[in-house]
Amino acid sequence: MRVRPLEWTDFPGWVDLYYSRYEEIGRNPDLGVYLQASRPTLPEEAALFGQVMKAVLAGDAVIRIAEEAGRLVGTCTVWRRGQHLEDRHLGELGIAVHPEFRGRGFGDALLGETLERCRGVFEVVELKVVAVNERAVGLYRKHGFEVCGREPRAFKRGDRYLDEILMSRAIEPAPDARSP
Ligand SMILES: CC(C)(COP(=O)(O)OP(=O)(O)OC[C@H]1O[C@@H](n2cnc3c(N)ncnc32)[C@H](O)[C@@H]1OP(=O)(O)O)[C@@H](O)C(=O)NCCC(=O)NCCS
Repeated sequence: MRVRPLEWTDFPGWVDLYYSRYEEIGRNPDLGVYLQASRPTLPEEAALFGQVMKAVLAGDAVIRIAEEAGRLVGTCTVWRRGQHLEDRHLGELGIAVHPEFRGRGFGDALLGETLERCRGVFEVVELKVVAVNERAVGLYRKHGFEVCGREPRAFKRGDRYLDEILMSRAIEPAPDARSP
């Protein structure tokens, strides 16, 4: 397993991983990720990938990917929440590992490395997770996230509503940014 930055050449693997959500949802209705009303087309994915890379280059997103035997099997993204003076310090986190590679430490490695790379970019990282997603909540707790709220019925899939848990953790400044 290797955790590394996202590169332009990752586009095919990025799309495969994203499309796998639409296959998984049929057998796993509790899958705790957001989906567009219909699967984005390849040209739409290309435009989105361009926006992702633009945000990385602008310093508005920290992204790491997990690779196994040359295949992209996981992504962790932290996006700057806003561009106001008052909320630029906040990052919003999302993580996903391909279903065939879960439970093998990929999420753990990916999250640890991504949070390390957030130092000096964000001061607080926050996220929302569906309350039934025990694996994700366990992973976030392991990495220092604490529950800071609960939004009832925030997630709706079909006719079913799920609560979302809000979690947050502070990010230490980069070592060279700390006062002596
Ligand atoms: C959540 C997800 C990213 C975790 O990745 P993973 O590779 O499966 O996780 P890991 O194997 O690295 O497990 C890491 C930690 O997660 C926690 N964890 C794993 N399985 C768990 C379970 N069944 N119950 C509770 N915690 C669990 C543990 O803290 C574990 O650390 P440990 O093995 O030292 O105890 C992955 O399951 C996934 O992609 N799920 C679908 C998408 C998703 O839900 N994303 C989060 C949206 S908020």
